Amino acid sequence: MSHSDLDFIRQQIRTVPDWPSAGVQFRDITPLLSSPKAFRVLIDQFVHRYFDARPTAIAGLDARGFIIGSVLAYELNIGFVPIRKKGKLPFTTVQESYELEYGSATVEIHTDAVGPQDRVVLIDDLIATGGTMLAGLRLLQRLGAEVIEGAAIVDLPELGGSDRIRAAGLPLHTLVSFE
Ligand code: PRP
Ligand code: ADE
Repeated sequence: MSHSDLDFIRQQIRTVPDWPSAGVQFRDITPLLSSPKAFRVLIDQFVHRYFDARPTAIAGLDARGFIIGSVLAYELNIGFVPIRKKGKLPFTTVQESYELEYGSATVEIHTDAVGPQDRVVLIDDLIATGGTMLAGLRLLQRLGAEVIEGAAIVDLPELGGSDRIRAAGLPLHTLVSFE
């Protein structure tokens, strides 16, 4: 992993103060996605990280985890599994609820999405309190899958999420952090 690539990725993330509520510094990844060069550098970071680990599936967290997770799955030639906000998946689901930096939410996964034969990488754009990724981890584990690592572009370490995730036993790989 080259420092210049990570610096380049960091520079493409826009900070929007007081959004969606006062006091939140929103780390906006859309400039990373709209630049073809930055998007490729970003996805290549994760492809190189997971090529040798041979996961059987990428699980992406709603909604920004879908954008990077589906492209990563395509590049690794494995399946993509969406973990969605409540009420969006049509088949039988299991659910987990969690608290956010600004609110609360429930996520779901289809019961046949993964099973004990799977080795899964769980991906999102950003770790704040860690609640979203931990809820996704619980869903995958309830279906019997092995979650080999959590992955995200951005860590906000002051919110404690990355510590909580690692304390729960999930290795976590993030590319850049903002204090
Ligand atoms: C954001 C972000 C992560 C989550 C991180 O999603 O994309 O999924 O919050 O926060 P946490 O670590 O405190 O759980 P959000 O719930 O805002 O939904 P969105 O992707 O639909 O915008
Ligand atoms: N999700 C939770 N907190 C966030 C933040 N500060 N920026 C972007 N997405 C977030």
